[in-house]
Amino acid sequence: MHVEQGQAARVIVAVVDDHRRLDDALDAEFARAPDSRRGHALVREIAYGTLRHWGTLDALVRLLVKKPLGDRVLHTLAAAAIYQILHTRAPDFAVVDRAVTAAGHVARPAARPLMNALLRRFLREQSSLLATVRAGDVGRYSYPQWWIDRMRRDDPEDWESLLDAGNHQAPLVLRVNLRATSRVELLARFADADIRAHGQDDAAIVVEHFAAPETLPGFGDGAFTVQDASAQLAAAIVDAHDGMHVLDACAAPGGKTSQLLERSEIDLVAVDDNPRRIERLRGNLARLGHVARGARIVCADATSPDSWWDGRPFDRILLDVPCTGSGVVRRHPDIKWRRRPSDVDAFAAAQSRFLAATWPLLAAGGRLVYATCSLFRAENEAVVEAFCAVNPGALRETLSFPPSFRHRGGQILPSPAAASHNQDGFYYASLRRT
Ligand SMILES: C[S@@+](CC[C@H](N)C(=O)[O-])C[C@H]1O[C@@H](n2cnc3c(N)ncnc32)[C@H](O)[C@@H]1O
Repeated sequence: MHVEQGQAARVIVAVVDDHRRLDDALDAEFARAPDSRRGHALVREIAYGTLRHWGTLDALVRLLVKKPLGDRVLHTLAAAAIYQILHTRAPDFAVVDRAVTAAGHVARPAARPLMNALLRRFLREQSSLLATVRAGDVGRYSYPQWWIDRMRRDDPEDWESLLDAGNHQAPLVLRVNLRATSRVELLARFADADIRAHGQDDAAIVVEHFAAPETLPGFGDGAFTVQDASAQLAAAIVDAHDGMHVLDACAAPGGKTSQLLERSEIDLVAVDDNPRRIERLRGNLARLGHVARGARIVCADATSPDSWWDGRPFDRILLDVPCTGSGVVRRHPDIKWRRRPSDVDAFAAAQSRFLAATWPLLAAGGRLVYATCSLFRAENEAVVEAFCAVNPGALRETLSFPPSFRHRGGQILPSPAAASHNQDGFYYASLRRT
């Protein structure tokens, strides 16, 4: 275990100090030191879990040392060990023993007694130490202070429960490809393979224990795609009918593109400016059997339509814009520690540019659906309200979601732990062009 603890510590430093994406940092670590699949799974689990609770764990380590540890990997290794003690079934003595060995490897042999003393003091005094760090916002909620302040301002009623919802691990949620199979059929295949799962909403399946999607029955033959329940609402809101000309303006990796193609016979243009993600979109459409549906896939900047638009107005536009991802931190806990306050304003400015640039491509009577996976008002209502204020031809349409979705207006709220319905935080607005 000590090798994995050391690897996880390096990965966490890359996220919290260098603002790297967690999955990129994991890939880089695994490339540096190839290991067994089981070892990788453990590194991943420690890194994800530690980042989920980083605010508390970081504060605990600071409290446990007399002066800050100069070596960041050592600091993070202590945090990761405390994560294992508090949140996993690994025996305390094994966690401490391996972390002491790891300290000798990731730092220097002299770091071993220090790690030993620090973790043993944590074990002796954990309840009073936890009470001390939980007296502060960051130690209590495990988000950066600016994020807590923003949520408190944005949602004075529910901010605490929204922060808490983001700290629970999300299950794997699939969308059944109804062109290929039915939910009943796919659930039966899962049951045959001893995979516990249940249906939710129209076409969703919630997998009840950890599984890599590509190992599930039906993945190879395109029976499903990975997509959270909130994102699965997109196609119904866009409501494209057969024969319509539709733009999916930020399309890759194609979760919603494939859903639009599954629902109706449309003439779809899918645009994304990231060549690697466009390749993933192509791969996903091929796996799901949608290549013959004739979508035009364009690698271009959606905000410069002169380079890719043929002048034919669209009946529907889906604008699933890049955002902070504040609604999906339960899946990507690194987002909490990578983002900076200024990112929110930068995303909001870009989101306004996407709206302004694509609105003129919409036919009279057509609908534009604006979507983010954020909980921040600045990226959601504020962007849409500001746009409508200067575009009187844009009419807000009232959205209605299925009753099982907790939402406030177009803001879908992430489900609390153990809720009967499972969903990420998401936002939708629908604008009709008069
Ligand atoms: C939220 S993701 C889209 C997810 C996608 N709709 C789905 O359901 O799978 C936002 C996408 O916008 C793309 N993007 C960012 N800037 C862009 C631009 N200027 N033009 C087109 N696409 C852009 C990103 O590459 C990213 O794939």
